[in-house]
Amino acid sequence: MIAFGEPHIHLDECDSTSDHARRLADEGAPGGLVVTADLQTAGRGRQGRTWVAPRGKALLYSALLRPLTAAGELLPLAVPLAVCEAVEALAPVKCRVKWPNDVWIDGRKAAGVLIEARADSEGGFAVIGIGLNVAIDDDEFPPEVRAIATSVGHGVSVEAARDEVNARLGQWADRPRSQVIAEFERRDALIGRQVEWVSTAGRHESLSGTARGITNRGELRVDLPDGEEAQLSAGEVHLGGETHRA
Ligand code: BTN
Repeated sequence: MIAFGEPHIHLDECDSTSDHARRLADEGAPGGLVVTADLQTAGRGRQGRTWVAPRGKALLYSALLRPLTAAGELLPLAVPLAVCEAVEALAPVKCRVKWPNDVWIDGRKAAGVLIEARADSEGGFAVIGIGLNVAIDDDEFPPEVRAIATSVGHGVSVEAARDEVNARLGQWADRPRSQVIAEFERRDALIGRQVEWVSTAGRHESLSGTARGITNRGELRVDLPDGEEAQLSAGEVHLGGETHRA
């Protein structure tokens, strides 16, 4: 078990909690450091997207994992599991994961995860960035994500969410591979569903197939129409016929 939240730095406002944590890591900050903020002015999501949340209504959280252990390979899957457990400990909701690391409540995205690892002379580190919508009303989401985003709600506070994420992340960040894979599959929102993605190998080509769970390295297994299996290791998949975006 890893202890997250000591030290803890809370900022009224910053560019990005992950950028702030990375700067502190570069200056030698210890593993376990957590940076949170009421507001980010340059919040970042996966795939180069921005991450926006109204002041004080989301958990904007970045934790420093240092050194980067062998468990680091499955961190992208372990972190959303920690968030699922944290949310379910605080609110009467059920969470699922959309590969690789979105957290869904009732088919809508409640949290996103951005993990950035860096090698250094002392074993490397990872900054684990989590954006969890805690108390954002539907009409406060930007129009383009309103139909696909949601919040924890149920009167949960950002501080309670932070404490619970600290505890659950500590438990999941170094769990054995077999437990991470088994729990991910139990919460897998894509299994058996038609998914679409754009192949980046060679020319960009739109592909689709049926999601069949994950490999023990965390790749998404997809049955293709020709009977072959694809294993996706990065990037984005969309649900077939729907407009879900991460
Ligand atoms: C995603 O695209 O789904 C990942 C979103 C991650 C957002 C969080 S908010 C806290 C941390 N700081 C950032 O700039 N990004 C992450």
